Amino acid sequence: MQRIFSGIQPTGIPTLGNYLGAVRNWVKLQHDHDCIYCVVDLHAITVAHDPKALAQATREMAAALIASGIDPKHSILFHQSAVHAHVRLSWIFECVVRIGWLNRMTQFKDKAGKDRENVSAGLYTYPALMAADILAYHATRVPVGDDQRQHLELANDVAQKFNFDFCGGEPFFPVIEPVIMGPAARVMSLRDGTKKMSKSDPSDQSRISLTDDADTIALKIRRAKTDPEPLPGEPAGLEGRPEARNLVGIYAALTDSDHAGVLREHGGQGFGAFKGALTELLVDKLSPIAGEMRRLLADPATMDAILRDGARQAEAIAEPIVKKAEDLVGF
Ligand code: ADP
Ligand code: NA
Repeated sequence: MQRIFSGIQPTGIPTLGNYLGAVRNWVKLQHDHDCIYCVVDLHAITVAHDPKALAQATREMAAALIASGIDPKHSILFHQSAVHAHVRLSWIFECVVRIGWLNRMTQFKDKAGKDRENVSAGLYTYPALMAADILAYHATRVPVGDDQRQHLELANDVAQKFNFDFCGGEPFFPVIEPVIMGPAARVMSLRDGTKKMSKSDPSDQSRISLTDDADTIALKIRRAKTDPEPLPGEPAGLEGRPEARNLVGIYAALTDSDHAGVLREHGGQGFGAFKGALTELLVDKLSPIAGEMRRLLADPATMDAILRDGARQAEAIAEPIVKKAEDLVGF
């Protein structure tokens, strides 16, 4: 059975983008794959964070994942800082990855912005830790949103160079295949159709979070940027209309359809009517998740026990793999 690994940062309540681009696919994969899902708290400290709030943010993310359908009986669910194998392999990978490769990462350029001399070195080397997260388990399939494509290519380059440098080209680390699924693999900001929706962008509050109530969802959809034209009858008509394309993609993902299917039903409609239908759909799909999250968070001790148990299972898989990598390096 192929092993799946994926992670999410405890940097806020998950957005509709995290849910449609990643988490919903994690849920779908867990019944016929060996799945490991990680709340990546080591990644969360690459930017300014509140130390007093981090443990609770990790618990909230775990609750959000379980409420979305991740079942700790079928999948391993844990937080990254509890399994030291990640950091040990990450250091080795920092010494394998080339600075030139890191310099090409567009997420770093976006997140660092203009103040590139004054961000943490961790934000810069983040892709080496991400490669370690996956390869410490010899995972071969990684379900992520479209924004992670470049980091996964880099992880494959790191694995290949490690194999070449330390194993005479033998495939100790396997090739990773990204699993990027569905019509909402890159959900865009509702304010700016050229930027992705992110839970951790403080400058853009237009995102839909999994805990938003019905009124908040209705308001955010009503305010979502659109153009004056009605919806086209087929996908070609979405060309050059990123905001329309985004809303149609969200609708398609939530109904397990595609752009063409949604436009067959809603083509010709103005955004007033379409936004009403979309709001209803969102409230219908998201409010049970928010309710379940509240119920889980009322019992923090059980959440912590689930994460601890997951960490023990994760460690048992990663430990021998990382030990072997350390042997190969010569430690
Ligand atoms: P964020 O950027 O929202 O803080 P993370 O870095 O924690 O999210 O990413 C968690 C997962 O969610 C990743 O698989 C990522 O590709 C996916 N993801 C993040 N934003 C989006 C989006 N706007 N659309 C689709 N998937 C997304
Ligand atoms: Na991201």
